[in-house]
Amino acid sequence: MSLPPGISEVLFSEAQLQRRVAELAAAISADYAGLTPLLVGVLRGVVPFMADLLRRLTVPAMVDFMAISSYRAGSPGGQVRLLKDLEISVEGRHVLFVEDMVDTGLSLHYLLRLLRERRPASLYVCTLFDKPRLRLVNLPLRYVGFQLPDRYVVGYGLDFRQRYRNLPYVGVLSADLLLADGPPLPSAAQGGPP
Ligand code: PRP
Repeated sequence: MSLPPGISEVLFSEAQLQRRVAELAAAISADYAGLTPLLVGVLRGVVPFMADLLRRLTVPAMVDFMAISSYRAGSPGGQVRLLKDLEISVEGRHVLFVEDMVDTGLSLHYLLRLLRERRPASLYVCTLFDKPRLRLVNLPLRYVGFQLPDRYVVGYGLDFRQRYRNLPYVGVLSADLLLADGPPLPSAAQGGPP
């Protein structure tokens, strides 16, 4: 398979991702049998995973999204700020927080604390990717798709400067691109028009 510019190798193929998502969905469907969980995602990286996971659940499920300003985006004191709140109330509901990636855990720590205050009936986490070596806060992760090495990966929702999210697989970003700091990527990096 020929890879787009900027991708040095495929880490998880589309088939591998889909197989693991199906396994996670089966485990979640079994654990939530008889219930209607509310799946909560934080935009934007989670979108492809959420869509695939949701379609494979065999229990009825609701879905809602939050948005935060990342502490990485230069917010003062590295704080996380809520940009978009949920529209569905979590009080008394079985909430499954769905993440594409848990890295330092700071985003999730902030969001879980916020949701816990709203008294859900239960609150668990499902993440497709986990980078435990970068963790700064301890978090209980009930469902984990894959553990990742400390490499910059993109695709299936994960981005580099907002690009590559649309790749159906997860690839490793080439080192030269990672080191290059400056103007936007050429449109060729997405394998198509800008
Ligand atoms: C990513 C990911 C998590 C968060 C994890 O989001 O989707 O929400 O970072 O990192 P942490 O464990 O170190 O807090 P990002 O801020 O890159 O935004 P995005 O989802 O829009 O790509």
